[in-house]
Amino acid sequence: MVRAAITATGLYAPADVYPNRYFEQRLDTSDEWIRSRTGIHERRLALSGGTSDLIVPAARRCLDSRGILPGAVDCVIVATMTPDRLCPSTAAVVQRGLGAINAWGFDLAGACSGFAYGLVVAAKLVESGAARCVLLCGADRMSSVVDPEDRATAVLFGDGAGAVLVEPVADPAVGLLDHVCRMDGEGEMLLYIPAGGSAEPASPASVAARRHYLVQDGPAVFRAAVAGMAEMTAEVLKRNDLGVDDIAWLVPHQANRRIIEAVAKRLGLELGRVVINLDRYGNTVGATIPIALAEWHQQRRFAYGDRVVLAAFGAGFTSAAVYLRWAAD
Ligand code: ACO
Repeated sequence: MVRAAITATGLYAPADVYPNRYFEQRLDTSDEWIRSRTGIHERRLALSGGTSDLIVPAARRCLDSRGILPGAVDCVIVATMTPDRLCPSTAAVVQRGLGAINAWGFDLAGACSGFAYGLVVAAKLVESGAARCVLLCGADRMSSVVDPEDRATAVLFGDGAGAVLVEPVADPAVGLLDHVCRMDGEGEMLLYIPAGGSAEPASPASVAARRHYLVQDGPAVFRAAVAGMAEMTAEVLKRNDLGVDDIAWLVPHQANRRIIEAVAKRLGLELGRVVINLDRYGNTVGATIPIALAEWHQQRRFAYGDRVVLAAFGAGFTSAAVYLRWAAD
């Protein structure tokens, strides 16, 4: 059987840094509230351009780090909830922007679980022989869908992109080994953007009512995220006869430090083995896990063969845990 693995990583975040103080001047909030309730200190925002403008530099860095040209990519998958446009796919825009002339591709709408879902799909394409070099991108320009006047959401999110290559590897001991993916559509209205799709197309009334912005039931999402990520991680470990002490790193979706701490506590996992970088990026939705992977990879904090679990939870409610052994140099 062909084994698929992440062989390269790259990230891009906008240059402009917005510390919590930025919101103190505009909203009824404080640096202290944001830090203590979320763990976020600052985020990067791109106040113009599309999500593809974040992805293309991340993807270039990913390809450059592997020393391959865009023509070697045979499939582009973009996991995002903020596509450049409803049509065509952002994958098509990225394909052109990169010059990945031999690639087909598509967008994947899994919100915060999009990258984890995409990793499963990419691995299956490679394992089946349908693709040999998948460029998987997780990216969101959340500033395009977050209400700047809503203190309950404005402070949580950031913009950014991460990209990985998924390719066959010769060593059957490394790469993507298992996954658990779930979805609970009962969560639809607990975290959603009411208008702008086919159910409620854009109209002067929908714009006036601010129905194109993200709305959420924060405490409900918080509870579901903790339970979802902890249960799925425990399940994927159990399926593989592993205990928490066997994993080198847990890479959770970066929504809120308190969510991550609660997941680690439920699992009995010390925080020193949990990747946390949301203090600097906020919640970049589809980008949180690939940005975290790229940072840890660049800092050489993953060793070859390390057991790593990615855990995700997001709108839908979608959730996933992916078990892999690190394979990139
Ligand atoms: N500054 C000051 N006060 C605020 C702010 C703010 N930015 N935002 C909310 N508040 C207030 C509320 O209005 C409320 O006031 P009230 O008691 O007078 O009504 C009070 O703080 C407490 O509100 P809660 O929502 O109960 O606060 P909580 O401690 O639950 O924290 C938070 C809110 C941070 C949104 C939390 O619920 C959370 O992180 N939920 C998960 C949501 C999330 O991460 N969504 C992202 C997408 S999903 C995902 O990525 C998994």
